[in-house]
Amino acid sequence: MANLVISGGRRLIGDLQISGAKNAALPIIAASLLTAKEVQLSNVPSLEDTRVMTELIKSVGAKTEIEGNTMYIMANNLYDGGVPEGLARKIRCSIHMIGALLPRLGKIEVPLPGGDDLGMRKIDLHIKGLTALGATVNTSNQSISAQANRLIGADIVLSFPSVGATENIILAASLAMGITTIRNAAKEPEIIDMANFLNSMGAMIEDAGSELIKITGVDKLGGTKYTIMSDRINTGTYMVAAAITHGEVFLKNSNSVYLSAVIERLREAGIQIEETIEGIWVKATNGFQPLDITTEVYPGFPTDMQPLITPLLAIANGRSTVKETIWEQRFEHIPQLTKMGADINMKGDTAIITGVKNLNGARVMATDIRAGAALVIAGLAAKGETVIQDIYHIDRGYERIEEMLRSVGACIYRN
Ligand code: EPU
Repeated sequence: MANLVISGGRRLIGDLQISGAKNAALPIIAASLLTAKEVQLSNVPSLEDTRVMTELIKSVGAKTEIEGNTMYIMANNLYDGGVPEGLARKIRCSIHMIGALLPRLGKIEVPLPGGDDLGMRKIDLHIKGLTALGATVNTSNQSISAQANRLIGADIVLSFPSVGATENIILAASLAMGITTIRNAAKEPEIIDMANFLNSMGAMIEDAGSELIKITGVDKLGGTKYTIMSDRINTGTYMVAAAITHGEVFLKNSNSVYLSAVIERLREAGIQIEETIEGIWVKATNGFQPLDITTEVYPGFPTDMQPLITPLLAIANGRSTVKETIWEQRFEHIPQLTKMGADINMKGDTAIITGVKNLNGARVMATDIRAGAALVIAGLAAKGETVIQDIYHIDRGYERIEEMLRSVGACIYRN
């Protein structure tokens, strides 16, 4: 299996084009199953996870065509032919097949979803939401199945603003009879993107992006042409990558509006950031100031950026803390960074990071998407050579990461 090999210490200089957002593309591809008319999606990131999602919708009869980053989906002839377990277990978003297929098929069974190993990854809120809409939901050790003649709008209160559960309920409620409200809904920008996509097909979703979302069910949805938002976490990744090399990079097709919490903290660390309509400009000339960070739901500091900012703090001038509040188990990158010379101690849900002068190249292992990207960032700054194994995790969320970084001066290749 291929590794990524990085010779660290080169400044990143130049322009990078940010791809479409994985975490918007995945639910939107699933949402395309809600209509029998043609859907055309632009800015679809070419990733392992989007390929898996495409195979998943094909497994229930959807026809797809892909030209570059444009995808055509036609779901006029769907069937519950048994979603392959191997595919469903690869990504978390396979569970969105329930919300998207239940209104079309009346009954669907999906193997339990997989995805990164970040903790318990419960699905109780998905089940609670679908049940409130009138579905009969059964789970076994292997799968989740749901059945409903016609879903009926309901008032649903989430005990935690889960991104996936909010999306799944919106999907199912779009074609339900009557009005659904979701209270304590997740506010992540990808939910707004999915709602905008559904509304462009004729759905009636109001106030996505707020904690109270209202969905008025419609009888059917039409076709659409839609452009997927740019990836805010990949933008953040390349911002940190540029900064840690004391580089100067312009990130095209990026949107700083959804990155306020990250930009604020990076500025506090001493990084220069300019937000323009065309994109985000990042420059770092001096050493980095330590930070105390706590992950929060949007608009707070995103959990997905937590592993990515850690290498920067590992070489900051002093002691930082990083507290993870969303996932029980999102510190798999810490032992790997320690191998590279980082001084990090864990205390419960908090990493205590004492800045060292520099990181050193080492042989390390990617354990999930963001942990893998964090090792790439660390490798760019480290003295000597870093070899990252198990890079399929990185390919799940980053389009051509080594080509992107090479284009701005990094010495990184796949072997
Ligand atoms: N949770 C429950 N019950 C549920 C659902 C979630 O207790 O029914 C808990 C989870 O166990 C977790 C927390 O709620 O502790 C957050 O889960 P959420 O449902 O919000 O996350 P998700 O939809 O599974 C998405 C992203 C993640 C990102 C989180 C949080 C996608 C495909 N994934 O996951 O992205 O970390 O929201 O923002 O959209 C990544 O891209 O690397 C990634 C892991």
